Amino acid sequence: MKRRILVTGSGGIGGVNFIRALREGEKLENDELFIVGTDFNSYHLQFPEVDIRYKTPRHNDPNFIKVLLDIVKKHKIEFLHPHPSVEARVVSHKVKIFQRRGVKTYIPPPKDIAPDKLTIHTILDKKGVTVPKTIHLEALEDIDRAFNELGSPLWIRAVTGAGGRLSLLVKTPKEARYWVLLNYLQGRAKIRDFIIQEYLPGRDIAFDSLWFKGKLITSYARQRLEYPFKHISLSGITGTPTVAKIINESKINRLGTNAVRALNEEPHGFYSVDIKEDNSGKPYVTEVDGKWHTTAPLWGYAFTKITSDNKYNLAYLYLKLGYGEEIKDYPPEYDLYPEGYYLVRQLDCGVLLVNEKGMKWRIL
Ligand SMILES: Nc1ncnc2c1ncn2[C@@H]1O[C@H](COP(=O)(O)OP(=O)(O)O)[C@@H](O)[C@H]1O
Ligand SMILES: [Mg+2]
Repeated sequence: MKRRILVTGSGGIGGVNFIRALREGEKLENDELFIVGTDFNSYHLQFPEVDIRYKTPRHNDPNFIKVLLDIVKKHKIEFLHPHPSVEARVVSHKVKIFQRRGVKTYIPPPKDIAPDKLTIHTILDKKGVTVPKTIHLEALEDIDRAFNELGSPLWIRAVTGAGGRLSLLVKTPKEARYWVLLNYLQGRAKIRDFIIQEYLPGRDIAFDSLWFKGKLITSYARQRLEYPFKHISLSGITGTPTVAKIINESKINRLGTNAVRALNEEPHGFYSVDIKEDNSGKPYVTEVDGKWHTTAPLWGYAFTKITSDNKYNLAYLYLKLGYGEEIKDYPPEYDLYPEGYYLVRQLDCGVLLVNEKGMKWRIL
């Protein structure tokens, strides 16, 4: 019998990766997936390997949920996966409406999805998870106070949004003031929308984890080595990395797990953590979020493709757990992928998996 699935935001890079990984899982297990994909961007909606595609309103449009419910009814959807966190948060708020119609989901509660950076900082700090020293800008004068108390340079960032939104390395109060003022004047943010924190120049690390009713199912960590188009961006942070390598380190695994548990004592769904190190290699958590990092399903796809083993396939594993199925071959709790493997990707150039012995696999 075919599984009938709805994936929202399916035209984004993360959504395309997610569906690609599901299709690989389907092929390896002779499963049959009927996938409906949605996106508000009609160009990007052409990318995913779905059976039927629909353009939907944006997540903040009052009709968004209604359109999803119409699709659910029309296509007898059994499982709903909202991929982008903005859509996941809206669906999570209304999850009962879907459950009443017999639709399964596997998403965290709304409070865990894309929490603002100040909230994250406060929660983690209170629970003893290492976070960078941070000052919230209530007024422009707080910029001077930040430099007095935290030193220089500092990292300034918006409390909401993803992909390093409005972040910048600032060396003087004047730089910080101009940045905040310009963004304020151009209507991107208010003064109170910024935090300023100690600058962490060390390794840039991501920890990804899948949880079921408080139990850690599996996780892995990677170091981000290169961002696309960093030379034409002011902060150098452009969302998703073009080069990253797997690391197996218990101190990172511990920190990542503690950060997720600090956000929710009973995590349920996929959670990602961003970690940045200082000069001495001490790791700090900059973000924890009940969302999928863009490349999490792609790592799963890459390892599944070269091993033909669905154990690595995070998206497919998530689907099975979300359907309430027994998992025969459980993956390890930590270090799902072996150390020293690189995922190398670039616009129009495809995706490579490379290891430290110089072996290379073309993934896409
Ligand atoms: N205090 C900091 N010092 C240096 N770099 C930082 C700092 N905080 C965040 N970053 C960089 O910005 C990236 C994006 O920040 P993150 O906390 O993940 O929020 P988001 O992804 O929502 O923008 C991080 O992965 C890291 O590379
Ligand atoms: Mg992040």
